[in-house]
Amino acid sequence: MGEVFYVTTPIYYVNDMPHIGTAYTTLAADVLARYHRLKGREVFFLTGTDEHGQKVAQAAEERGESPQAWADKMAPHFTGTWKLLNISNDDFIRTTQERHALVAQLFIEKLKESGDIYLDAYEGWYCIHDESFLLSSQLVDGACPDCGRPVDWVKEENYFFRLSKYAGKVLRHIEENPEFVQPESRRNEVTSFIELGLKDQSISRTSFAWGIPLPFDPKHVMYVWFEALLNYVSAIDYGADPERFESIWPADWHLVGKEILRFHAVIWPAMLMAAGLPLPKRVFAHGWLTVEGEKMSKSLGNVVGPDELVDEYGVDGYRYYFLREFSFGSDGNFSRRTLLRRYNAELANDLGNLVSRVLTMVDRYRDGTVPEPGAPGEEENVLREKSSALVDSLDRRLAAPAFNEALAEIWEYIHALNRYVDVSAPWSLAKDASRGADLDRVLYNCLEGLRIVSLLISPFMPGTAARIWERVGMDEPLKGARLPESAAWGLLPAGSVTTRGEALFPRKETQPEDS
Ligand code: MSP
Repeated sequence: MGEVFYVTTPIYYVNDMPHIGTAYTTLAADVLARYHRLKGREVFFLTGTDEHGQKVAQAAEERGESPQAWADKMAPHFTGTWKLLNISNDDFIRTTQERHALVAQLFIEKLKESGDIYLDAYEGWYCIHDESFLLSSQLVDGACPDCGRPVDWVKEENYFFRLSKYAGKVLRHIEENPEFVQPESRRNEVTSFIELGLKDQSISRTSFAWGIPLPFDPKHVMYVWFEALLNYVSAIDYGADPERFESIWPADWHLVGKEILRFHAVIWPAMLMAAGLPLPKRVFAHGWLTVEGEKMSKSLGNVVGPDELVDEYGVDGYRYYFLREFSFGSDGNFSRRTLLRRYNAELANDLGNLVSRVLTMVDRYRDGTVPEPGAPGEEENVLREKSSALVDSLDRRLAAPAFNEALAEIWEYIHALNRYVDVSAPWSLAKDASRGADLDRVLYNCLEGLRIVSLLISPFMPGTAARIWERVGMDEPLKGARLPESAAWGLLPAGSVTTRGEALFPRKETQPEDS
């Protein structure tokens, strides 16, 4: 079961445009998907849009549109943004698709038959922004404890899922499988939440119609969270194609933001247990990003969209910054100053200049042809050993996942290559005709080091990686490369043609206060 590496993002509400926060989860999932493909695994990477529920219905109504027309207009903003960011998702699920509705109905029917769903009166608070039911004791100053917005009093007949019946089992699962909820600090939050006692979960609504009708009582539409979680199994044909489903499920990683961990680490496992399905292997809750120290919000007018940053820094400048700057499990602050600083220091200078220096010298001294490697000296052995240690370490970092640490280590290697160029001073060797073989060896090692760098950055910065790979003289496309095999030292063929090319990351002007 589950031989395919399956990674998911939350499905995004279509009430708003994608921004750097929503793009953050998607980018992280993309790195994992690309990394596992590079390791030769079959991968299924899913993202999509969450289109039902009161919040989307309200957004549509405010614009005088039907919810479906509104969702149809908004979904392309997400697919377009993912294209812009070079996201390699294998599928894009929209919850208004029939394939999703059929599975959601089948699933709820199954739980009804097993006795885990019953009808009762609901009376309580509801936060439309978070689409969540709240107890009076949870409110803070009468408002939603998570988003601070006013809440509505809901009184209606609802179907309930017997969440309480599964509380103990879910808690035991979390405690016995430390990998299941990560990072650890968040795991403790989830266990304390369960220990406080779980009430049964309302899973249907009757006061509005924008949702999937319950097959056994179509006056009710499914509660949007209950329905949305099912996207993870509807996209892989649960109930429709058992062979496909079993080859992909369970998910290896559900990546989510910290505010929606509870749904993924408590309700979702209980739903799966009730349906007799295996649980996802790991759920990781990442932190939230603020913008220049402030919470991002429409009312503050400080929402940053990926497109403006990509225009300025290119897609790989964008990807590098968000993956390098923040520690995945912690909150972080986006600032234009740190973006500019990292771009100039780490991309334009450390990496971009290295590539351009090496290729210029190969052009000048060896006519743009990869020279013979010759016999390795001590310096080369160090570079070779460092690169193989880096391959192992990348594997550990991405198992965590700690994207920032992985990139920091790759950049240490880039620094080592820069030092190697400085210390071996090819420009001096070029002046001495008797040192021709030494010059060949040094240039070869620089090119080979860059080839390995390009391979290792490819999950993070796929476009830049492919450019470097071609420029150093690899004819085989980077797409066919595999880890760890392709990282073996010495695979760059002598005699192939290098290409100098344009600057990968043109330096940007800084103001005195930026540096
Ligand atoms: N539709 C639900 C998810 C259903 S999954 C079965 C939802 N959608 S959302 O559009 O509101 O948010 C989706 C993701 O974007 C969450 O993982 C959330 O953490 C992330 N982010 C939204 N704003 C964010 C920041 N400012 N910073 C980091 N991530 C944030 O919840």
